[in-house]
Amino acid sequence: MQIIAVMNYKGGVGKTTLTANLGAEVANRGHKVLLVDLDPQANLTFSFYSVDQWREELRKDTTIMRWYEGDRPGSEVDLHQLVVTPPLINRQFQVSGGRLDLISSHLKLIDIDLRLAARLGGGTTIGESKRKFLDLHGCLARALRHDVFQDYDLVLIDCAPNFGLVTKTAIVASDYVLVPAKADYLSTLGIHYLVGNCDELVAEYNDYVNHGPKGGGDRTIETRFLGVVFTMVKVYANKPIGTQQYYIAETRANSQIPVLDGTVRDSPKYFGDAGASGIPAILHAPVTDEVALEFRQLTTEILNGLGSGAAR
Ligand SMILES: Nc1ncnc2c1ncn2[C@@H]1O[C@H](COP(=O)(O)OP(=O)(O)O)[C@@H](O)[C@H]1O
Ligand SMILES: [Mg+2]
Repeated sequence: MQIIAVMNYKGGVGKTTLTANLGAEVANRGHKVLLVDLDPQANLTFSFYSVDQWREELRKDTTIMRWYEGDRPGSEVDLHQLVVTPPLINRQFQVSGGRLDLISSHLKLIDIDLRLAARLGGGTTIGESKRKFLDLHGCLARALRHDVFQDYDLVLIDCAPNFGLVTKTAIVASDYVLVPAKADYLSTLGIHYLVGNCDELVAEYNDYVNHGPKGGGDRTIETRFLGVVFTMVKVYANKPIGTQQYYIAETRANSQIPVLDGTVRDSPKYFGDAGASGIPAILHAPVTDEVALEFRQLTTEILNGLGSGAAR
């Protein structure tokens, strides 16, 4: 089982579209996939459930907000009790034997995120503060180690466009970080800060595990970057248009992390109405379509990158 956090500080760069389609494509290949929606905007959730369905079936008891709230994450409910299996999409996997499950999000997760962060303060001793740090930051990592999650081949976590505490729990829980970005100035500028902040978090966490208070069953982490995936790439004559080519080349040359060969093409036709049908575009695009072919290649590249240690 491998866990990938999909993150970028910038919103609107295609994180959710990539997560939903990647999850669907991997499940369609016969694997068991769990998607975790950690963005209060809940767009990943609404890619598989209508707003009405979410309100009636999930909102009250079955969102990740319930798990993060309470005295400490997991005190109200176990994480595995929140797993749902969206029926519509899973009907597509009857032949392949794959499965796509979801832990849905809630628009009010943002309030919980702020409350959790506030809880980090207030330790009276350094040891106590470090204990709180490890307990809070490591909560999702610990929960995902539960036996029931070992059945999944892949867990994809769609993060909010920030570096709040909930996002940090995803980084600590993940084997890899995948960074979707648009090939423009602001999107590529942010990658440097993102990598720096993630590296700092991993270093601090491991320092506390190695030199801090014992007894919490904490483990050191080794979150690595799978790399940057350029999204919404405008292709002309089989190549990204000039300005985008420039930012892709620039990132390849200067970024601390790899840039994947595969990209997601700008295609309002397929990716423009993320999930309105409950089935990501990759599953209803004609198999010979260029955009779909590219996406499948990207999926293979991502899967090949897992466990290879190719990234840092
Ligand atoms: N490759 C693409 N081509 C065209 N539109 C896209 C593509 N990827 C995403 N979009 C659209 O752009 C918007 C933002 O994408 P989204 O995946 O929600 O980004 P994020 O999760 O980073 O905020 C959505 O309306 C989505 O449908
Ligand atoms: Mg999103």
